[in-house]
Amino acid sequence: MPISFLTKRLADHLGRLVDLMSPDRLFVLVDENTHRLCLSRLTEGGTRLAEAHVITIGATDSHKTLESLAHVWKSLSENGATRHSLLINLGGGMVTDLGGFAAATFKRGIRFVNVPTTLLSMVDAAVGGKTGINFNGLKNEVGCFRESEAVVVDINFLLTLDQQNLRSGYAEMLKHALLESDRMWAEHLRFDLDNPDYAALLSMVEQSVGTKQRIVDADPHEKGLRKALNLGHTVGHAFESLALEKGQPVLHGYAVAWGLLCELYLSAKHTGFSTQQMQQTAAFIRRNYGAFAFGCQDYETLYAFMQHDKKNQGGEINFTLLGGIGDIRLDCHLTKEDVFDSLDFLREGA
Ligand SMILES: NC(=O)c1ccc[n+]([C@@H]2O[C@H](COP(=O)([O-])OP(=O)(O)OC[C@H]3O[C@@H](n4cnc5c(N)ncnc54)[C@H](O)[C@@H]3O)[C@@H](O)[C@H]2O)c1
Ligand SMILES: [Zn+2]
Repeated sequence: MPISFLTKRLADHLGRLVDLMSPDRLFVLVDENTHRLCLSRLTEGGTRLAEAHVITIGATDSHKTLESLAHVWKSLSENGATRHSLLINLGGGMVTDLGGFAAATFKRGIRFVNVPTTLLSMVDAAVGGKTGINFNGLKNEVGCFRESEAVVVDINFLLTLDQQNLRSGYAEMLKHALLESDRMWAEHLRFDLDNPDYAALLSMVEQSVGTKQRIVDADPHEKGLRKALNLGHTVGHAFESLALEKGQPVLHGYAVAWGLLCELYLSAKHTGFSTQQMQQTAAFIRRNYGAFAFGCQDYETLYAFMQHDKKNQGGEINFTLLGGIGDIRLDCHLTKEDVFDSLDFLREGA
């Protein structure tokens, strides 16, 4: 699946891509925010994109639902979409996940292109072929693997993205850097998130996508190596669930950053990860993501969330840890006391 990284003229590039694919009808899926902030960048060039039928759904994960999906199917159906039509998903991970699933299922599958507009979707959600919706109170409960025809990354979309969502996406980049190399990791710790240098960020996004793509290519259906992408997520998802339960939801990437901090502590303690690199990463995370509000009274609940993670088998929690930067250790098992220690470590720095 081709991925392009643009510096200018998104409309021209995408217009050429559409001409090459020559669909009979063209659709663009947006949410309320990307309709307002991003859509005009697609339609400004006098290409076929200007005639596309625009489908709009509500913004944020609360709209990654069967109702929104049905709305997309209905709009496609009522506006003459056929198996030769093309859907362009213009938005964050919510739009690329739901749009990808809508395209994968409509008339047994039509083509789609992802144009990610959040940092998280650029480096993670838009790449790798996972699509889906939330269902029955569970995240990504229904979905399928389906690759987009292309991903077109235009860093300029990030100019309207708020600081929190920028930081949220950056946590996944930090994870990719930890899975890749010392050089990439050091570059990520030097980056100033308060005053982002977007030119530098573009090249880092490109490397980050490269890491995800390499891992996904080696293991598209998550039988082995793809579990590496779960680094920071075993503990991170538990924080996300606890925050949701308390009615104080946190952005996914913030939970991942705190999860990374705990899992690097565990890596330093159990799989030989450098204590110095762990401390340096922890300092970066504390500085940029602050502290997660929780206490020892939450430990059992957090542990129970980790046990219920859908990535586990046979009741034991599967951690992805590191022996060093780029040295991935899958399916590590730890005692409850070890996990509680890592939660202490996160709270001590608070
Ligand atoms: N498929 C995968 O492999 C994968 C991987 C990671 C995450 N995800 C999914 O991605 C979703 C999270 O993605 P997200 O963080 O992009 O969330 P999101 O799509 O909800 O976007 C976050 C917010 O930013 C707004 N927004 C989007 N682009 C903007 C722009 N350029 N300027 C200003 N605002 C903009 C959105 O409208 C929304 O309010 C979750 O549903 C998650 O499950 C999927
Ligand atoms: Zn994630």
